[in-house]
Amino acid sequence: MTSQTLREARKYEEVTGKAIREEDRPAFHLSSYVGWMNDPNGFSYYDHKYHMFYQYHPYDSIWGPMHWGHAVSEDLLHWEYLPAALAPDEQYDRDGCFSGSAIELPDGRQLLMYTGVMRERTLEGGFCELQTQCLAVGDGRDYEKYEQNPVLDRTDLPEGASVHDARDPKIWRAKDGTYRCVIGNRPADGSGQILLFESEDAFHWKFRKVLAENHNRFGRMWECPDFFELDGKQVLLVSPQDMLPHGFEYHNGNGTLCLIGSYNEETDTFTEEADQAIDYGIDFYAPQTVLTPDGRRVMIGWMQNWDTCAVSGPTSRELPWFGQMSLPRELFIRDGRLFQKPLRELEEMRSHEVRHEQVTFSDVIRLPGVEGRQIDLEIELKAGDPEKVYQKFAVRFAQNGQYHTAVSFRPHESVLKIDRKFSGSRRAVIHQRRCLVRSEEGRLKLRVILDRFSAEVFVNDGEQVMSATIYTDQAADGISFFADGSVIMDVTKYDLVRGQV
Ligand code: FRU
Repeated sequence: MTSQTLREARKYEEVTGKAIREEDRPAFHLSSYVGWMNDPNGFSYYDHKYHMFYQYHPYDSIWGPMHWGHAVSEDLLHWEYLPAALAPDEQYDRDGCFSGSAIELPDGRQLLMYTGVMRERTLEGGFCELQTQCLAVGDGRDYEKYEQNPVLDRTDLPEGASVHDARDPKIWRAKDGTYRCVIGNRPADGSGQILLFESEDAFHWKFRKVLAENHNRFGRMWECPDFFELDGKQVLLVSPQDMLPHGFEYHNGNGTLCLIGSYNEETDTFTEEADQAIDYGIDFYAPQTVLTPDGRRVMIGWMQNWDTCAVSGPTSRELPWFGQMSLPRELFIRDGRLFQKPLRELEEMRSHEVRHEQVTFSDVIRLPGVEGRQIDLEIELKAGDPEKVYQKFAVRFAQNGQYHTAVSFRPHESVLKIDRKFSGSRRAVIHQRRCLVRSEEGRLKLRVILDRFSAEVFVNDGEQVMSATIYTDQAADGISFFADGSVIMDVTKYDLVRGQV
């Protein structure tokens, strides 16, 4: 039975969502059907399609009572909206259906596992949230909440675990056919930990162990865990809140963290070996992964971040939608690090190839045919004179007389910077971010994917990625290159065209 709350949301989004013109949305990134979107939820492959649910407040382009929006796709690049899947319509989730995940049950139904939120008055007169884990079962379109919800509540948590910060279940099926899920939680030391639960049937759960502990190393509370095997290693992705900066690796505020290690399935023990940021740009948070039918581990993140999205500003009010997902990225491990490449199907959207080889320059140049706002741009750099490596290289895009966004590289410091200060933003949020990249003698490979409202920069074949949203006027579609010192560059540009797949 669909509740009144969900029926209203579905009606509202149908009428208002339809009225949004296609050209006012990203062309191949999923955006909110209408209103606000944050985290990807329930990213899964079910009934021959990819399903993406998302944190959703249809009624406004700012965060509000969380619903689950829903879209499906055959290639992860062309999305079709389905009616909202969940609404906050039960006692235990009356203040929000927070993030979670999805899995196919052996009987062919799809199971959603999410966090139910209930706000309660505290004795001091304030409010606190009670977070529990809940289930809904459905057919890929309509979902029925489980009558025995919540399936994990305060009685299932270990000692010292906060009931106010216990959320974002990620469920998977173990090799022996039983189920596991991890949630983000705040232990007594106020930082973050990942709790592991187990179940025979995906409906009855019990606490297994603390899978990973933050001990205040990487921010405090860890949100939105994902945990999977990749190239013989085990990977734990989390999104820490309240981070302190650490060199160029981690920045202040909400960040992303990838822990790489090993996993003993018998004892459910995760042993950390290495840590790194997931995305080094401005807008990325709460990623989730899916295993494709052909065995690729693909990640999509929320291409915004709580600390940089200026939710009170005009950006979020000028568009009838706010929030978009990142490109789907294929993950792999190389040299003990997480690498990301744009989903290979993106290449099927390429058209109008323009190539310039061995362009030698030491000032500002433009290249014939290299422009656009929905493009795939490959750049390979080397020093014009290896004895005297250039000082700086920059590519400016989304450019006209007034606006531009720049990616610049200083080989002597090995620092790559993205700067959207002149992108048209009217808010005092972060506009620049830098990261350390691997480069010798000024060599660097960049692949810049532009959609209407974003730039994703893949460095050195996916060793690092920097993502940023840019809400620049679409008429600003120029591209220019700058070099201080002599640079030799190969450039290939493709337009990315919808509907070719
Ligand atoms: C992360 C997050 C989750 C929570 C959701 C609420 O961005 O804070 O932890 O489930 O957003 O919308």
